[in-house]
Amino acid sequence: MKIVVIGGTGLIGSKLVEKLRKDGHEPLAASPDSGVNALTGEGLAGALEGAQVVVDVANAPAWDDAAVLDFFQTASRNLLAAETAAGVGHHVTLSVVGTDRLPESGYFRAKVAQEELVKAGPLPYTIVRATQFFEFIGRIADSSTEGDTVRLSPALVQPEAADDVASTLADVAVGAPLNDTVELAGPEAFRLDELARRVLEESNDPREVTADVHARYFGAELDDRSLTPGDDARIAPTRFEDWFSQSVK
Ligand SMILES: NC(=O)c1ccc[n+]([C@@H]2O[C@H](COP(=O)([O-])OP(=O)(O)OC[C@H]3O[C@@H](n4cnc5c(N)ncnc54)[C@H](OP(=O)(O)O)[C@@H]3O)[C@@H](O)[C@H]2O)c1
Repeated sequence: MKIVVIGGTGLIGSKLVEKLRKDGHEPLAASPDSGVNALTGEGLAGALEGAQVVVDVANAPAWDDAAVLDFFQTASRNLLAAETAAGVGHHVTLSVVGTDRLPESGYFRAKVAQEELVKAGPLPYTIVRATQFFEFIGRIADSSTEGDTVRLSPALVQPEAADDVASTLADVAVGAPLNDTVELAGPEAFRLDELARRVLEESNDPREVTADVHARYFGAELDDRSLTPGDDARIAPTRFEDWFSQSVK
């Protein structure tokens, strides 16, 4: 089956392309570097020729409010139009658990806009909402750093390995469209500040992590329900400790 992965060179995209290839499918990794730009529409028609499924795991290069909204809206419109013209039968989108609970954040408003376009669009779809990737914790710390201090909310998070997210997307992509949203989360919950402290300490990073209930996560204050999944979420297998011991050199 030909499956086009938009953002196929990114963290999730590259893992997904590898898994699909191993499973005997024909994945096409699409990104601006390979001449396929979802934002401008360049190269989309050619890339989608003969494709049955498109998985959109692209991410915006800039996250200020206007830029990120424009990215997810324009890219989604371009993709859905090109997929319709090419006769694609299933559009899969990767979104974030709790997206609709964080309207103070421009990034999450943009993800809601992306989801709305997919749901209102002409194609059979599946939206996979994932929790934070273990691999993303460093970037969360970076985004909350002032000087040598990282100010983070102590809200609960239930993160997961990027590998597990890619495996679920590979299953979803070859299955029937659900025309619905499914959630995927890691097997354990952590306090965000404690998890970041652990990651920085193990990497000998000198920054100090401070818990602050008012600290903003990409623009939004968090509580214990903001980023945690509902009862029906699929639970990814990899535990943080196992991932961490493999990833710390
Ligand atoms: N980070 C998390 O914890 C988390 C949690 C849940 C869901 N998500 C979602 O997961 C998705 C993927 O995240 P990621 O961390 O894998 O992203 P990433 O590593 O930053 O990769 C982004 C990909 O998007 C591509 N891209 C950028 N602009 C593009 C354009 N105009 N047209 C086509 N492709 C373009 C990039 O291509 P180049 O390499 O050529 O730039 C790259 O392949 C995002 O939608 C995000 O919202 C993230």
